[in-house]
Amino acid sequence: NKKVILDVDTGVDDALGIILAVQSGEMDILGITTVNGNVSLDKATENTCKILQLLGVEEQIPVIKGAVKPLMRNTFFEHRVHGEDGLGGALSTMLVNKTETEGFGPDFIIEQVLQHPGEVTLVMTAPLTNLALALAKRPQLVHEVKEVIVMGGVVKGFGNVTPVAEYNMYVDPEAARIVLHAGFPVLTLVGLDVTRQALLTDEHVTLLGDTPIGRYVLQSTSDYMKRYWERNQVKACALHDPLAVGVALRKDLVTTQAYYVDIETRSELCDGQTICDFQNRLKREPNVQVCVGVNSEAFLHLFVQTLLK
Ligand code: BDR
Ligand code: CA
Repeated sequence: NKKVILDVDTGVDDALGIILAVQSGEMDILGITTVNGNVSLDKATENTCKILQLLGVEEQIPVIKGAVKPLMRNTFFEHRVHGEDGLGGALSTMLVNKTETEGFGPDFIIEQVLQHPGEVTLVMTAPLTNLALALAKRPQLVHEVKEVIVMGGVVKGFGNVTPVAEYNMYVDPEAARIVLHAGFPVLTLVGLDVTRQALLTDEHVTLLGDTPIGRYVLQSTSDYMKRYWERNQVKACALHDPLAVGVALRKDLVTTQAYYVDIETRSELCDGQTICDFQNRLKREPNVQVCVGVNSEAFLHLFVQTLLK
């Protein structure tokens, strides 16, 4: 099994990504590091613990708290999208049996990678603060992990938090720059360009049926879908973070192209914007494998079938 660390700001779609990863049975999840983002660090951590408990794996998978705020900026929560609690109101009465494990997310990432050199895949579905902090401590980490998969950015389309910026990049653009320029041999960017094609509909949710997972998905996605409808006039919701997990499971779900990519950090209107040098005007070496196409049907099939397991 593939060794992975998930880095999350749980969040409705992060939770679905965790469920996909656990249910797949194909990942050896070394731990889940949490970070501020959609909700506060404490909320993201509690939500992550709840999801593991729902799946009955809270004793097997440690949850480790990471950064409480972005590197240089204030927190920017997304309660409008994910609800006050971050899970769209689901699991609100669940009491957590097992809370987080002692430690600091960025240190946990370093420790695990050193224990399993060349073997660990990092699946990042939140602002990139934790990984940037890990790199500050250990720059050679770039040659010690197997690969990095980042849900974040948008190269051709519009943003989802400002007119031009995707949320994870917008919240901590300084961290994103550090990660993109660190020199990872394989860094795959799963941006809105492809995640907006990975749409969960009512029909999919119905297929999941009246099971604990099915009921959870129905409840947690109902407001999330309404919100997506208001913004996009599409009756569905985008599985942003689950698609990043999907790419970790099956590379061939997406097609990628190597480009030089940067993130804007010093603009009044464009902070967090993903800049992709499609025509190599800057004459820089590509640093990112950008997802440019996705087999949505195959992904949704994988998602539903895995959750039905
Ligand atoms: C990303 O932003 C967050 O709100 C989601 O959890 C996802 O990671 C999508 O832009
Ligand atoms: Ca997320």
